[in-house]
Amino acid sequence: MSALPSRVSITESSSRDGLQSLGAFVPTPAKAGLINDLSRTGLRSFDAVSFVSAKAVPQMADGAEVLAGVERLEGMTLFGLVPNMKGLEAAVAAGVDGIGVLTAASDTFNERNINATVDESMHRIRRILLEVPEDLLVRGYVSTATHCPFEGEQDPGWVAHLAETLVEWGVHAVFLGETMGKATPAHVDRLLDDVLDRVPVELVGVHFHDTYGQGVANTMAALQRGIAMMDASAGGLGGCPYAPGATGNVATEDVLYLLDGLGVDHGVDVVALAEVAQRFCADHNLSYNSAAGRALLASTDRE
Ligand code: HMG
Ligand code: MG
Repeated sequence: MSALPSRVSITESSSRDGLQSLGAFVPTPAKAGLINDLSRTGLRSFDAVSFVSAKAVPQMADGAEVLAGVERLEGMTLFGLVPNMKGLEAAVAAGVDGIGVLTAASDTFNERNINATVDESMHRIRRILLEVPEDLLVRGYVSTATHCPFEGEQDPGWVAHLAETLVEWGVHAVFLGETMGKATPAHVDRLLDDVLDRVPVELVGVHFHDTYGQGVANTMAALQRGIAMMDASAGGLGGCPYAPGATGNVATEDVLYLLDGLGVDHGVDVVALAEVAQRFCADHNLSYNSAAGRALLASTDRE
């Protein structure tokens, strides 16, 4: 086993990826409250909201209002997902600390998701990067990094090329989006063979979905390659409205339990986080999808 990172930075995606596909609108104070409650468990980085078309994703229509309701704790970074210049303007006006810009590796998913070919979305990103205020952090997402719901398995060399281009253009980190949750550690390894040939490991993050139950195994594969930035979603909430069949992100609790077992530092109280997530799921009639969280809460109840 190669050296694991000594500390991992988790970006919490439940208020964005976790909620974006839900039909029933989660009230703005509940979204802000989720971020506030999770920040008290030690999380500091949030994939908090999106600045996208309300027609495309009605659940994310209240990004600015959600951010206004967040209590800013020291060291907190709130990211907003931005698909175009209009999104950038809205994100800046709302006072984000960082933005996520996005392309997919495959044209079909990208067209359905953001109405652009890969080439077109790369041009959009280029424009955003030329205009973005210097003090904002920028992370670039490459979705469908291993599998596209419409075009199948993706070429790791192509994904690596996109990731390298985003880094050359100035993103501070590039996140590999495993949108479908279909990859196994073998896919992750093949992808990272190519990506890490071209992009320094400290600039690479991973964003795993857990559809096939591979999220923790894939997280381990990434850790073994030295990756120290990862997205996860409390309670395993999540999914993309344009990725049919895909379920939530790997649960933050499951990732934290893994990190604790490996002795990798993360700064989060996993039981407190599980309590917040389970309560949120119960309040909003959502299924709570963290195996580690369920087990931790059950054993805490018995004590
Ligand atoms: P479009 O139809 O090509 O955009 O959509 P347009 O420029 O032609 O504008 C159409 C309408 O949208 C106009 O309004 C614009 O003003 C409005 P109208 O005149 O009809 O009233 N509009 C906007 N409104 C608010 N914010 C904006 C914005 N831009 C245009 N930024 C567009 C293109 C990108 C806007 C649309 O397709 C869209 O919003 N897509 C978002 C889809 C999305 O949010 N998907 C989920 C997030 S991605 C994801 O989850 C993957 C990830 O988790 C990683 C992984 O898992 O792999 C990150
Ligand atoms: Mg996602």
